[in-house]
Amino acid sequence: MGYTDKYERDAYGIIAFWLRNDYDHGRFFDREISHYEMELARANQHNIQRLGEIWKKAEAKQGDIGTLLQEAHHATREFHSLLAYTMDKSLHCEVIISTPVSLLDHMVRESEESQKVYKLIQSGAKVSVADATIHETVFWLRQMADHLGYIRHYLDVSNYELNFRVTMMMQKFERLLMQATALKTMIRKPRNEMLPVLTTFKEMIIKEAKDLEAFKLELDDLIKRCAAVTTSPPDLLEHIAREAHHLWRNLEEGIIS
Ligand SMILES: [Fe+2]
Ligand SMILES: [Fe+2]
Repeated sequence: MGYTDKYERDAYGIIAFWLRNDYDHGRFFDREISHYEMELARANQHNIQRLGEIWKKAEAKQGDIGTLLQEAHHATREFHSLLAYTMDKSLHCEVIISTPVSLLDHMVRESEESQKVYKLIQSGAKVSVADATIHETVFWLRQMADHLGYIRHYLDVSNYELNFRVTMMMQKFERLLMQATALKTMIRKPRNEMLPVLTTFKEMIIKEAKDLEAFKLELDDLIKRCAAVTTSPPDLLEHIAREAHHLWRNLEEGIIS
């Protein structure tokens, strides 16, 4: 798995994961902005460059972690504003882009999650394993269901069998998300212990996320060899496989990161 070669889970590695996430989002979005929207394209490119620079610093573990966090936070906030602003424009049909509104929202939510993680690293606050499990599953299962929706969005309609398979998987993740939200309200705060039902659910999600990661990598290979009819960015599948990997690693460690 090439993309996990440089995936480290210390503070620098986690900051690098999130910066790279935003950096990729900017690059993917860049492909979908009409030439009528020069100003938006330029603003987005500015964000890509800035996020890329800070990501490289995080990966090289350069400098003080406090300064890095500040820079990351700042760049992420700016990119978040651009995405949220564009999403509003899109809802008013005032911008020409081919990115679906829900995909903009998906990126906005990941940007917000990254800001939560930066704050958590900064504060050094401890989160109980049960709270982390609930948080991670509620947040990421929606993202995982979305990913399958976007795979289908980019896959050509002519891939009838594959589209069917992806739809089935998406519906499975929608059900898992419903289960996570049910557990969130049934198991009330303070969550000081891991109830057996939550442990069972966590184990199930770890397995499902691993399977989903493998499936995304299988498609990644097809797309990179130009062996599937799709308009997906060539490295989108690797991007979303990395997120599935991040989910099960967080669940195994019982943390939010
Ligand atoms: Fe992402
Ligand atoms: Fe995502």
